[in-house]
Amino acid sequence: MSLKVLILGVNGFIGSNLSAHILENRDWEIYGLDIGRNKISHLLDNPRFHYVEGDINISKEWIEYHVKKCDVILPLVAIANPSTYVSDPLSVFELDFEANLEIVRHCVKYKKRILFPSTSEVYGMSMDSPYNEETSTLVTGPIHKERWIYSSCKQLLDRVIYAYGSRGALPFTLFRPFNWFGTGLDNVWEPKEGSSRVITQFLSAMLHDRDINLVNGGEQRRCFLYVDDAMDAMLRIIENKDNCADGRIINIGSPDNESSVKQLAETMLNIVAEYPGYENIRERVNVNVVEGRTYYGEGYQDLVTRVPCIDNAKNLLGWTPSTSLEDGLRKMIAYYMAASPSEQDLDANPPSIKTSTTPQKIAV
Ligand code: UGA
Repeated sequence: MSLKVLILGVNGFIGSNLSAHILENRDWEIYGLDIGRNKISHLLDNPRFHYVEGDINISKEWIEYHVKKCDVILPLVAIANPSTYVSDPLSVFELDFEANLEIVRHCVKYKKRILFPSTSEVYGMSMDSPYNEETSTLVTGPIHKERWIYSSCKQLLDRVIYAYGSRGALPFTLFRPFNWFGTGLDNVWEPKEGSSRVITQFLSAMLHDRDINLVNGGEQRRCFLYVDDAMDAMLRIIENKDNCADGRIINIGSPDNESSVKQLAETMLNIVAEYPGYENIRERVNVNVVEGRTYYGEGYQDLVTRVPCIDNAKNLLGWTPSTSLEDGLRKMIAYYMAASPSEQDLDANPPSIKTSTTPQKIAV
């Protein structure tokens, strides 16, 4: 019998890419729930892809039934965008913590294997470099720096899952994405400033002739991981050969793809300038320096650098990332440059969400 994988938030960045990779490379069945379907429409006809439209806070019976029925549970519904941490921290708490705690408890009840998306943000402003899953301290800022509510929610769920797991009540793996990027990360066609993570924000600015904003000068550094490498790691975690991922915390990132935000903007401008019609992109797009509190609000606080130790991923999963930052950016930019107007619609948020005054319930 083939493995049954439950993906809550199947239309999100990770959910949609993971589903495509599973259907292409494995014989597993996917049961997926989401409020939207725009990023998975090309998968809906696959007989191994069982999609239902629903909200994690409403479709509770469907969720409990499918936790019981499936072998592996991936709760990927969360707000994962720093601007929302600052503008609407309570929605982050309600969705990322409260709603997901219920899923964790279902997994405990039915003794089902949970693969929980922790985050690089749990390390916060830790001075370690690289960040190690077993030894690094987790450092967040004062309470009025509301950016840290996301990190805190994820950290507490990590601790809850670990506590259940270490007492034999829950099979688990905590995986920690480090700045994954690729097609489907946020909405490139959404022109709203601050609405997405840095790579989509910059690409969106270049496609709409808007300014690029380097928050606090852009000297802060991240290690970016291309989505295909990330999905290779995810398949290995789900596969769990010889139980290699059981009870483990695993950073999934690329230390070799470290870049400052300023360098990232330069790299992206250089690639975009190679496309016909974009040769003069540097004249059309200003690169500004803005203060973090002006751009995001008073509750924002940043970290200087964030590098993952990936020994666990290498040793447990036999995984190493292989796509350079520039190659990954080239692939992502090529996709959006070739997108037809109808594909642009597909990548946009469904109208019901777009017009909502409440924050989007998005899936990471
Ligand atoms: C991200 C998000 O919290 C999550 O997506 C995730 O859990 C985690 O970290 C991750 O992906 O590893 P962050 O790295 O700050 O946080 O993500 P971005 O919003 O992409 O920002 C990266 C850096 O670019 C920040 O220093 C930000 O200030 C800067 N930035 C962002 C700009 O300079 N200009 C912009 O227009 C947008």
